[in-house]
Amino acid sequence: MIKAITGTKDILPSEISKWYFLESIVKKKLSNFNYKEIRTPIFENTTLFARGIGEGTDIVSKEMYTFLDRSGESITLRPELTASVVRAFIEHSLEKKQSLNKFFYIGPMFRQERPQAGRYRQFHQFGAEALGSNDPLLDAEMIIIAYDILSELGLKNLEVKINSLGVPSEREVYKNELKEYLKNHFSKLSEESKKRFNTNVLRIFDSKDERDIEIMKKAPLLINYLNEESLNHFEVVKSTLKNAKINFVVDSSLVRGLDYYTHTTFEIVSGSVGSQSALCGGGRYNGLIKELGGSDLPGVGFAAGMERILLACENENILNLPEDKIDLYIVTLDKSKSDISYKIAVELRRKNKIVELDYLSRSVKAQMREANKFNAKFVLFVGGEELNNNEVILKNMIDGTQENISLSDIDKLLYKLGE
Ligand code: HAM
Repeated sequence: MIKAITGTKDILPSEISKWYFLESIVKKKLSNFNYKEIRTPIFENTTLFARGIGEGTDIVSKEMYTFLDRSGESITLRPELTASVVRAFIEHSLEKKQSLNKFFYIGPMFRQERPQAGRYRQFHQFGAEALGSNDPLLDAEMIIIAYDILSELGLKNLEVKINSLGVPSEREVYKNELKEYLKNHFSKLSEESKKRFNTNVLRIFDSKDERDIEIMKKAPLLINYLNEESLNHFEVVKSTLKNAKINFVVDSSLVRGLDYYTHTTFEIVSGSVGSQSALCGGGRYNGLIKELGGSDLPGVGFAAGMERILLACENENILNLPEDKIDLYIVTLDKSKSDISYKIAVELRRKNKIVELDYLSRSVKAQMREANKFNAKFVLFVGGEELNNNEVILKNMIDGTQENISLSDIDKLLYKLGE
């Protein structure tokens, strides 16, 4: 039997209402903050991600779905959307139309990671990107939006972690200091961290290896290498979050796995989902637009993992959505009259009613079972003796009352269904 690829998941109709609900909150909240949706292609030139995210990152070095297409071009399924949004922004010269562009997105991303609960190879993110302003209020805004969406869903067990990575020149000085410190402990580092020493030394802070963690506890901290401007930027982010009543912790080890960050980085983690606890992450990226060939403009954004958020909702037992219901089930009593049932169904559906009827020549009893399965608010019986008077019987499934309705009075039927 052919099965879905490891690390991918079908979203079945029985689960879709949770997704619709989450998407509706995301769209509403982002519209409140005046973000506009952008939809970019699922695949892009590999160079976009290699340059945008950074060759030394895990995503680019080992997780991307990359292939040559028939013309020999290297194509990659998008592992994230920040680089794509920036590409579209540059390609369409959007900064000429508006000096600050606020985008949001919802869609699938692809990373060949080791699958486990909360980690998939095709997963969905929603996210936001604001391009064109260095205002720390926007850094805080990203955190506020993400936090408000998670709170509106009813999630409780949340922690907001923030950090500042400063600017590249500050980071270069710091990286050298960090390397000096690590040289004295090099032999005790894990093999992975030994590799990262050369490729991406900051990422050693992400190591889960006990000995690495011990060593990193005493490592110099980037925050002590930031100049006044960077520190001021970070102070405004913190005070804005306090004013917005968002509790946070400053986590100086929060370096994030993508190279484009400058100044603020953040993650919101949940205590309800096990080891893959980051529900969302983001930060400022003031060098990315220029790096990808655009003007020297700043940007900031975040993205959230939708599967993880829904898993957290499930584990906290929230999202008790109302059961699906249909407006009407049409029971055909006499099969020779099924054309009448079908005509009524078409007419009512055109008037935006959710209507179902039998397509399997089922018995009346089986049709009633279907009506109950679909939680029909009303059932219409077509084909009884009353049809001789051009009438059908409408039954209210909540209070059990019945009444005859003339086939020439569809408006009455509509009125009844709307009650
Ligand atoms: P990221 O931290 O790589 O950042 O991903 C953001 C979120 O996507 C994670 O916190 C997680 O919830 C979810 N996620 C990532 N990988 C997986 C996976 N394999 N399975 C399930 N969920 C996953 C970014 O993608 C940046 N583009 C965020 C950003 C936007 N920074 C600035 N603007």
